[in-house]
Amino acid sequence: MAFRNLISSDRGAVRSITINRPDKLNALDRETINELQIAFDQARHDDSVRAVVLAGAGEKAFVAGADIAELSAITPIQAQTFSRAGQRMMRTIELLGKPVIARIQGFALGGGLEIAMSCHLRVGSERARLGLPEISLGLLPGFGGTQRLLRLAGRPAALELCLLGQPVDAVRAHQLGLLNRVAAVDALDDEVNALADQLAASAPHALAGILDAILVGGECPFAEAMDFESKAFALTCTTEDMREGTRAFLERRKPAFTGK
Ligand code: COA
Repeated sequence: MAFRNLISSDRGAVRSITINRPDKLNALDRETINELQIAFDQARHDDSVRAVVLAGAGEKAFVAGADIAELSAITPIQAQTFSRAGQRMMRTIELLGKPVIARIQGFALGGGLEIAMSCHLRVGSERARLGLPEISLGLLPGFGGTQRLLRLAGRPAALELCLLGQPVDAVRAHQLGLLNRVAAVDALDDEVNALADQLAASAPHALAGILDAILVGGECPFAEAMDFESKAFALTCTTEDMREGTRAFLERRKPAFTGK
């Protein structure tokens, strides 16, 4: 399907989904949220896709938040629908069952940080600026930001970023665990592509099990979470990739995973 606000392309088993509204700093309006929902549903169901990179077009911003022009006229009922659509789309990313990397070259603010936090890895350039400035609009994050930031960076950082609304630079974001890697501006694509290639070459059922154990199992009480992990571990032992990976180790060669 052709998108109005997204560009989707494949490089081997890596799908790139780029939000393409650079004149609005890739702000998330309703149409873009709907298109992202469709694009990630497609990525989920396409077996040839093993890893996804989410990016924002242009040099300035990954995503500068929900579309404030749209928000300014929204009714409470529309706001609930908008929040739920954004939450659903971001939950689809989080539970995709395939690793998703956010490529953050500039601003990731509001909904931009929220969608980045629903990805599994975040790689930022030295120019990245991350924050939840909704308070300055008389709002609070409505796409899961309060909850994901709390889980990612803990209560002190979640309270500070939400209450004060001040963005943090790449170094502080890295310290807080909001960025997994920080790259020089010119090295950002190499860093993102190297990670995406590594993930795309990994055993997909093992990747899915890891994502499931951490993201779903991790929300359970500890004893249930351990049980969840054991079952996910056992499930990988049904795959040819597990036999290949262990055999390759014993034969001192690189494994060739097929996804079976
Ligand atoms: N929603 C809608 N439009 C947005 C937007 C958003 N979240 N963020 C930026 N834009 C638009 C601007 O209105 C402007 O459009 P225009 O040229 O038609 O007037 C264009 O993108 C460029 O933004 P501008 O503000 O001129 O760039 P800047 O370099 O001066 O500032 C930011 C960059 C990111 C600091 C600033 O745009 C900003 O604060 N954006 C809002 C961030 C925010 O509050 N996000 C949370 C939303 S809930």
